[in-house]
Amino acid sequence: MSKYYLTTPIYYVNAAPHIGHTYTTIAADAIKRLKRMQGYEPVILTTGTDEHGQKIERAAAAAGKSPQKFTDIISQEFRRQWEVLGLQIDRFQRTTDPKHAKVVQDLFDRCLKNGFVYKGSYTGQYCVFDELYVNEAKPGDPCPDCGRPTETVTEENFYFKLSAFQDRLLKFYEDQPDFIQPESRRNEVIAFVKQGLKDVSISRTTIKWGIPVANQAPHVFYVWFDALSTYMSAIEGEGLWPADLHLIGKEILRFHAVYWPAFLWAADLPLPKKLFAHGWLLFENDKMSKSKGNMVRATPIQEALGADSLRYYLLREVVFGQDGNFSYDALVQRYNSDLANGLGNLSSRTLALIHQNFSGKIPVGPGDSVIAEAAKIAVDSALDSFEMLNFSKALETTWSLISAADKFILERAPWNLAKSGDTAKLADTLYTAAEALRIVTALVYPVIPESAAKIWAQLGFRTPLDAIRTADLAWGKLAAGQEIEPATGVFPRADVKLIIEKMKQGEAAELVRQQTLMGTKVASPPPVAAEDSSHISIDDFIKVDLRVGEVKSANAVKGADKLLHLQVDIGEPQPRSIVAGIALAYKPEALVGRKVVIVANLAPRKLRGLESQGMIVAASLEGGNPVLASFLEDVPVGARLK
Ligand code: MSP
Repeated sequence: MSKYYLTTPIYYVNAAPHIGHTYTTIAADAIKRLKRMQGYEPVILTTGTDEHGQKIERAAAAAGKSPQKFTDIISQEFRRQWEVLGLQIDRFQRTTDPKHAKVVQDLFDRCLKNGFVYKGSYTGQYCVFDELYVNEAKPGDPCPDCGRPTETVTEENFYFKLSAFQDRLLKFYEDQPDFIQPESRRNEVIAFVKQGLKDVSISRTTIKWGIPVANQAPHVFYVWFDALSTYMSAIEGEGLWPADLHLIGKEILRFHAVYWPAFLWAADLPLPKKLFAHGWLLFENDKMSKSKGNMVRATPIQEALGADSLRYYLLREVVFGQDGNFSYDALVQRYNSDLANGLGNLSSRTLALIHQNFSGKIPVGPGDSVIAEAAKIAVDSALDSFEMLNFSKALETTWSLISAADKFILERAPWNLAKSGDTAKLADTLYTAAEALRIVTALVYPVIPESAAKIWAQLGFRTPLDAIRTADLAWGKLAAGQEIEPATGVFPRADVKLIIEKMKQGEAAELVRQQTLMGTKVASPPPVAAEDSSHISIDDFIKVDLRVGEVKSANAVKGADKLLHLQVDIGEPQPRSIVAGIALAYKPEALVGRKVVIVANLAPRKLRGLESQGMIVAASLEGGNPVLASFLEDVPVGARLK
């Protein structure tokens, strides 16, 4: 089967990754998994970082770092973010990689040789933020795209004859109606090109932080000429070009739909097959931006509810292509209603019934013909929607199959069939439920891969879900007799308030971490009583992560009569191992089950060979024993003190 090559934009390193970037990259990861399911081989996904230009140069200077050092740090942060989220990135291309510079130069040489590049001079307004000349603006005017002030510049540049491609572009959009998606965006591009295209400058002499144009000092390449070439440099020499899909946000469509095809034509290179421009993710109905400080990061959400909850929410809640809103509340509600109650419930109920009635072996089918038919219709329709990148519709359809299966189980009431001894009907009922669950699990795999793989394993499959192909979605592929695993909850129900609080606190900590990393941490406002250095700011206090924990076990530490070794549950998957100097004050058995306060973000250290992952908070009495901090009211494990 043929290859499939897809890309995300390469992200500017003047900001650390947030869920806007994550949105595109998660969608790309889901498409990659889907394409593999459809049988494409190999499926290669490229992302990376866009590291040159004035904007980056200035961000580095503001952080007091050299551009190289600064870009190394932020680029690594993007790479780490995708790794932490478990995204299947094949190529991570940086524009500062020497391999990339060669490809950019080659593209330029080809365009020059074919007569599409010439030297010219420009005096006018420039928007540093968008890295764009604003031909129509006068000195003092704001940028029409982003509203920031423009700067007046005079430069001798290399120009690209974009004007030569106006008619060819219009004809191309006409002949290849699927090239730009969604349709509404295509119309915008056509209207833009119809207004007339001016030649564009593709080099700069006022900027140092860029790829030098060979033998043309002080010219460096214009960032977009540089950046777009990444899609080729990432897979240089692998025979994967042209790309099958460039996935982008709507604000950079013009560069991809107008400049990029023209550059490639001028260089006699094949064009990508498709562009899909998705909409913007807003935060509580406002555009996320660094300056507004209303950005959301992925890690705190992942830590509170798992990466799949974010993937599911982003792809289910927002119609891909349109703008959509992000809200913590909607995220947790979706998680509870669709994942915990919907898929999670179908899974645990079905598996439990098979354990109870058939000793954990899939009973004999063939299953109910009405549900089998409903499954076929749902699979066909969901795959069609996925193919159009209409994730929300595909998921909605899949969940209609979950509802049909739920309803079927309720109507058949297997618990009554078990009582009345109608084993054949009971077997058929549970086969139907398990087969519907198998199909749903495979179908949602591209969107929630981690959780789907868990359900898959619980259904008794030994082969990885990654190896599934669309043909396997046909009814009846589940083998009777297959031994299932014990059912453990894949989506534990979330306490809405508690989880939102956890995510918001995580977000505050993540913001500080990123700012520190970038060197942009804003100094805390001076304390009210400036002369009194004993005050700390709230920012300082919030750095201390104080949590309610419950002691699960307590043991004496050999050879250390003051120390106890505790296991303390603070609402994380594993209890914390904590060594505390409280043995003279508390007997181990008196501590088990007791609620305590711990400092959760202390760097771990070893005491007597035991790892201590936190500190217990106690009143320290002069000459007396420590007294543990505790609560009069009952408090849930994991609650934060502030
Ligand atoms: N470096 C250029 C792209 C060059 S591609 C050859 C750039 N970088 S960027 O860091 O600004 O990233 C923009 C992209 O990030 C958007 O096109 C989109 O894919 C994603 N998003 C960033 N914020 C977003 C939202 N708030 N909402 C949706 N997508 C967002 O432009």
